This record gives sequence, C-alpha cells and structure tokens, in this order.
Amino acid sequence: MSKNRVQIFDTTLRDGEQVPGCKLNTAQKLAIAERLDLLGVDVIEAGFPISSPGDFNSVVEISKLVKNATVCGLTRANQKDIEVAAQALKLAKTPRIHTGIGTSESHITYKFRSTQDAIKQRAYEAVAYAKKFVEDVEFYAEDAGRTDNEYLARVLEKVIKAGATVLNIPDTTGYCLPDEYGEKIKYLKENVTGIEKVTISCHCHNDLGLATANAIAGIQNGARQIECTINGIGERAGNTALEEVVMILKQHPTIGLDTAINTELLFDTSRMVQEHMGMLVQANKAIVGENAFAHSSGIHQDGVIKNRGTYEIIDPAKVGVTASSIVLTARSGRAALAYRAKKIGYELTKIELDDIYPQFLKFADRQKEVMDDDIHRLMTLNHIKKTSTAD
Ligand code: KIV
Ligand code: ZN
Repeated sequence: MSKNRVQIFDTTLRDGEQVPGCKLNTAQKLAIAERLDLLGVDVIEAGFPISSPGDFNSVVEISKLVKNATVCGLTRANQKDIEVAAQALKLAKTPRIHTGIGTSESHITYKFRSTQDAIKQRAYEAVAYAKKFVEDVEFYAEDAGRTDNEYLARVLEKVIKAGATVLNIPDTTGYCLPDEYGEKIKYLKENVTGIEKVTISCHCHNDLGLATANAIAGIQNGARQIECTINGIGERAGNTALEEVVMILKQHPTIGLDTAINTELLFDTSRMVQEHMGMLVQANKAIVGENAFAHSSGIHQDGVIKNRGTYEIIDPAKVGVTASSIVLTARSGRAALAYRAKKIGYELTKIELDDIYPQFLKFADRQKEVMDDDIHRLMTLNHIKKTSTAD
C-alpha cells in the first residue's frame, strides 16, 4: 500500500445503522454493501454480530457477497463477542475483527468500575484472542478523544504486542478540536513503540460539527484510515461523511493523499442510502445535498454561466451529479432567465428578454421557484416560438 493512500473504512452498516428508526433488513444491507464494494471502499464494517440474530445473519451474507473490500465485524472486549464475530465472518475473503474497550477515565470509572491496568490487560487479551481467528485485528480505544495520551500510548503498545494491525482512535463523543485531535495522532506516532507496524485510524463523531475536520487533521498527522459513513449518518449527530473526506483529498492535492473511491458513484450511493434508511439528506449537505450545485442568486448565476469555476469548486460530474443547476427565483437576473430559456429551446433577443424579464419577476414573486413549464407558459403568452428543440 502506497504511503499516500488513505484507506476508507465504511461503517454505514454498523455505526450508521445505530440511528434511531433506521433499521435495515438483510436484503437492504446486502444492496448497500454491494454498492460500497463497487464504490471502492477498503473496509466494510458489516455489523455487530453478537447484537442480534439479524445482525449476525447480515454479516454472514455480506461476507459471502463482498468481492473486494475487507469485511469487518464489531465486538466488545470479551471472548463470546469475538467468537460470534469470527463465526459470522468465516466466509469473508478478507475478514477483520474490530474489538476494543473504553479507555477514558469516565469509561474506566463509571462504565467498567475498573482500573487503568485492568483495562489495559483486557484490551491485550481481546486482541490476542481475536488473533486466534483472523490475521487482521483492529483495536478501538473507545473515547480515545478524552483519554489521557500517555495512558492511551501504553494501551496501544500493549495491543500492538498482541498483534493488532490497525489502531482506531475514536473521538466517540465528538468533543475534540481539529488541532487537538491531530496532536493526539502525532503524539501517538511519536510515543508508541511499534506504531510503524500498524495503521492508525480516525473515527470521529459530529457532535460539534467537527467530524470531517478532525478526520482530516488525523490523516495530516499520520493516520492512514478514516472511518466514515455515507451522508455522515450515525449515532447522535453522526460520523465523518465519506463523501466529504474523499472530495477534500481530491480537491486539495497539496495534502498529498488520496483514496481509491470512484467519486462518480458518490451521488447515487448517497441517494440509495437515503432511500433505504428513510433518512433525508439535508438540502445544503456538502457534496450530495440537493442544493450543493444549485445557484439561485442573480450574481452567482451570472458568474457560473460565464465560467463555472467562479462559484463552483467541484465539477458536479466528478461526484455523479449530471449538471449544476441554475434555479430560477425572484433573485435571478436576466442572464439566468436567458440561459434557462435557451436550454429549453428559446433563443431570446435582447428586446424579448427586456420585455419578459419584469413578467418573469412578477411570476417568481408569487412562487418559490420558476420551473421550465412556467417559462414555456411565459413564452406562449408573449408569442415567442422555439428556435431549437434543446432539452
Ligand atoms: O464511536 C466509537 O467509539 C465507536 C467504537 C465502537 C468504534 O463507534
Ligand atoms: Zn462511533
């Protein structure tokens, strides 16, 4: 694997599926897993096999289906969870067990009523046990974002000794600031013996809207795997959005890192997940939102019509959106009206445009958006005939 390659670990089917009311059946999970494989993700976290018979079965079926990606199953740090995950992953071409335990003071004190030493030992034993079943074992230090760095480093050294291949550093509560999270990764790179043998993974939650920024800070400081979900769905405010990190790396080649994602499938994949999960993508969502490539103010429309790059930093085709849209509203100028009219077959002269524009504005003031049918009607009212059959 090239040093410049960031692995994309998709957890739409595990952390993403923890969204209240978004339960998927096995057939839906299979359809999404197949699409994720086609999209080019490196790892698919297929579920938490011990959590229910349905989840176990989904991990079994996804393991049989997936051709390219590693298939991963989540466990807690105990033998039963690990045995069940290993069983569910048996038919995967490249299986991974993702095991771990909370390492922050609050997890150790309140969740486990335990001590730092005992937790470190449990972490070691869980990884060593998972290694009996699969070669590829990822360890998560839950709430690593709020875990003391020095203690975290000692836990990680221990799990590397047990054979962990990937170290997941979750900001489980979405609390970290980007520089803080980046510093944490840097600290671990510099202070954990054996870290050069493993991949560091970022798993960031979006409670403060920083999940994407934190994941990027992580990879800028040496992490080489990002855990993310389609549309950023996930527990509470969600996870890092896959489409965002992938496009940030594409649009900023100076970062010097890239993924294997086929970006042209991003929009369709987003819509597929939206449909299956019944969870609407907000219109202003970066990359895949309804308005991500829509221009409605006259000033912006004029700029985009003259040169797309004036107001668009991404070619919509690169993410599978067929065209940027000029949305006609009362805020639109003459240029946008002429542009849209031409698209549907009317090449307007300057005089015609000057005549029609005030009528268009009256129309637009009455409704939120002026559609192609409305323009056809305006043209008919003004006895303007089509000059082409465009669109
Ligand atoms: O957010 C988190 O800490 C997790 C772990 C279980 C990996 O989802
Ligand atoms: Zn999580």
